[in-house]
Amino acid sequence: MPVKQIYLDHNATTPLHPEVKIAMQKAMDVFGNPSSMHSFGRDARALVEESREKIASFINAEADEIFFVGSGSEANNTILSIFTCEPSQCANPCNMAHEIITSKIEHPCILEASKCLQNRGTPILFLNVDNYGKIDTAQLEKMISSRTGLVSVMMANNEIGTIQDIKKIADISHKKGALFHTDAVQAVGKIPVDVKKLNIDFLSLSGHKIYGPKGVGAVYVKKGVKFCPLIRGGHQEKGRRAGTENTLGIIALGKAIEMRKVEMDKEEKSLLELKSALKKGIEKSIPDIRFNGHPTDCLPGTLNVTFQGVEGEAILLYLDLEGIAVSTGSACSSGSLDPSHVLLACGIPAEGAHGSIRFSLGRDNTKEEIDYTVTKLTEVIKKTRKMSTAYK
Ligand SMILES: Cc1ncc(COP(=O)(O)O)c(C=O)c1O
Repeated sequence: MPVKQIYLDHNATTPLHPEVKIAMQKAMDVFGNPSSMHSFGRDARALVEESREKIASFINAEADEIFFVGSGSEANNTILSIFTCEPSQCANPCNMAHEIITSKIEHPCILEASKCLQNRGTPILFLNVDNYGKIDTAQLEKMISSRTGLVSVMMANNEIGTIQDIKKIADISHKKGALFHTDAVQAVGKIPVDVKKLNIDFLSLSGHKIYGPKGVGAVYVKKGVKFCPLIRGGHQEKGRRAGTENTLGIIALGKAIEMRKVEMDKEEKSLLELKSALKKGIEKSIPDIRFNGHPTDCLPGTLNVTFQGVEGEAILLYLDLEGIAVSTGSACSSGSLDPSHVLLACGIPAEGAHGSIRFSLGRDNTKEEIDYTVTKLTEVIKKTRKMSTAYK
């Protein structure tokens, strides 16, 4: 076990905020079913509603525009499925078999859900991005038509951190009469999000990316927008998501958001400073590298780097031996590693995509940790390049 342990993988998940942990410990005794009318149920209900209000106010929504789900993936699957319900079996039919437009750099939960819908007959169109991972809005203008029911574009990318011009994309969508959804799982709690200013109809968020627990998320649905649930059953969440609420997770998510409200702005400054130190350190000590993602419109703590001539997995494993946790964007399929679909969409060749590492910094990281990471990374790259036949 290495002496130091440095966690630079906050886009994968975050540790619980100490205040969230305290709130969860207290909430463990609240066992009533929030749907029950007796005092046990009412106690749980009051805490669930308090949480809903905190989340709504953080993104400038109304409390009844928020409902809770089991994850960011469920939130995204729910919204993508809104046009697939069977009208004859739905109390609130909105099925018009509409086409959906999304992008090539979305999280797998959007891409896989899209492929599934496509196989079942829903036309899905995929937007390109430029070298920085920005959506081609001119292409969206050409692609969108009266057939388009929904446009779904992520607010910030999990691998490269690029932040999209959401207001512009939402406005283009609305001009053609389409609804607009954004996967804001990596954005809420890291950058300011105002659903009214950004003209958003649906938004997804998740607890474990913002120092809350895993297995809880929330969806924003603009008032008046018709909506069919993915999970049917009881009348929980006003019929928008059946299943007894994850009271503990919801209370913790509310607390995590409350802490983001207090800490986000200050943290942004320190994350930008740490990222800049990491970037400068890498530039100074390691040749033949490339930074991916947008240089300015980027999440404050995310830095994606390609190291020419080496495999990302080798870098990851050697850094892990030094106690440093990072990630690659490669995905495992049929026993082999596929290069990141995000980097490929940005025009990075497969060899480059295979040699890329994502550093995602968080609230507890320090300058000392960054300096240590640069030192160890420099050694690791030297070592792996020496062994590499691909590095000239
Ligand atoms: C952009 C984005 N969307 C959705 C998800 C899925 O969220 P969850 O892990 O809560 O299902 C993730 C998780 O990595 C993500 O980064």
